[in-house]
Amino acid sequence: MARVEIAGLSKRFDATTVLHPTDLAIEDGEFVVIVGPSGCGKSTLLRLIAGLEQPSSGTIAIGDRDVTNAAPADRDLAMVFQSYALYPHLSVAENIAFPLKVARRPKREIAERVAAVARSLELGPLLSRRPRALSGGQRQRVSIARAIVREPKVLLLDEPLSNLDAELRVRMRHEFARLHQSLAATMIYVTHDQLEAMTLANRIVVMAEGRVAQVGTPLDLYHRPASLAVARAIGSPGMNLLPVTIVADGAVRLSDGRTLPVDAAIPAGAAGRAATLGIRPEHLIPDANGPFCGPVELFERLGPLSFAHLGTGGGGAVVAQLPGDRGVTLGERLCFSAPAGMVHLFDEDGRAIGVGGRPPLSP
Ligand SMILES: Nc1ncnc2c1ncn2[C@@H]1O[C@H](COP(=O)(O)OP(=O)(O)OP(=O)(O)O)[C@@H](O)[C@H]1O
Ligand SMILES: [Mg+2]
Repeated sequence: MARVEIAGLSKRFDATTVLHPTDLAIEDGEFVVIVGPSGCGKSTLLRLIAGLEQPSSGTIAIGDRDVTNAAPADRDLAMVFQSYALYPHLSVAENIAFPLKVARRPKREIAERVAAVARSLELGPLLSRRPRALSGGQRQRVSIARAIVREPKVLLLDEPLSNLDAELRVRMRHEFARLHQSLAATMIYVTHDQLEAMTLANRIVVMAEGRVAQVGTPLDLYHRPASLAVARAIGSPGMNLLPVTIVADGAVRLSDGRTLPVDAAIPAGAAGRAATLGIRPEHLIPDANGPFCGPVELFERLGPLSFAHLGTGGGGAVVAQLPGDRGVTLGERLCFSAPAGMVHLFDEDGRAIGVGGRPPLSP
């Protein structure tokens, strides 16, 4: 069993706290993706679990075993890095075999395991090559093969695909989904890529400023971000965020004075308070009488859909999703409205207002 449980885990570098005391339980066989802005502590958390950093406080358990003070090699886990970290002077086969050699496995077992892993990652024809004679995607497959050859209970992956081109990323993303099913290992995966996070994760952990901001299924976090940090971390292009004033229960005032109905349960006495309204580009509806208007300053055509960036006068832009075949001229004035049920509201501390009041997800 490879449940990973961390309790009160923290990390300080000198006077700087990089990870505040954190509790997190990852279930056996779960695929957990960690997202969050650069510098928020994702790699540090992974390196602590791997044993590459010593925690300032707290404990790490893998399965039934407390591994807080165990050596990295003695934790029954493997880690894949963004930089492939292959041994340049060893062949692909020798690179993959390396962890087994270190573990002093018999020659015959090593040969069998390397062949099996190479087969599953389609590396068979490359086994005698050196890493420099491989493409980026092939190198990353070798580093993954090396990580899984010992059949670790836990696989840690720190932005494993970020050096690959778009097409390879898609293929490798499918590869990870398949690997997760066939290995039945617990996987903890750090990425900046929205698609990877949304499609691979059983649960996503959003980190911000050295803390876990929210943990939930991808759709949970997409529909019910508990804070501005989570609203910013999930979705691409990101959620539009606009300053508003709370008018009364169920209504806010935009900076141009227009009033907008919202479905959030606004606490009594909040009228007059500043808040942030959030609406995703894909939830804005073209509406000549809508409150979100502005000239198109940038228009991005993605093929199946497109994004219009509207100048709002106040410096910020509102981004709205449109069908791919919508013709738009730069400078054209477009207006949109937001269904009350799709609007998010955050208080001055960045906490979602009335999240509990949002309707449950449809089945
Ligand atoms: N050895 C170290 N000494 C001092 N500070 C460190 C050390 N390692 C990391 N940090 C700091 O800890 C913070 C978190 O770093 P970490 O690498 O965990 O971020 P991250 O979330 O992985 O970011 P990215 O998305 O850019 O990879 C950063 O501010 C970083 O500068
Ligand atoms: Mg990192």
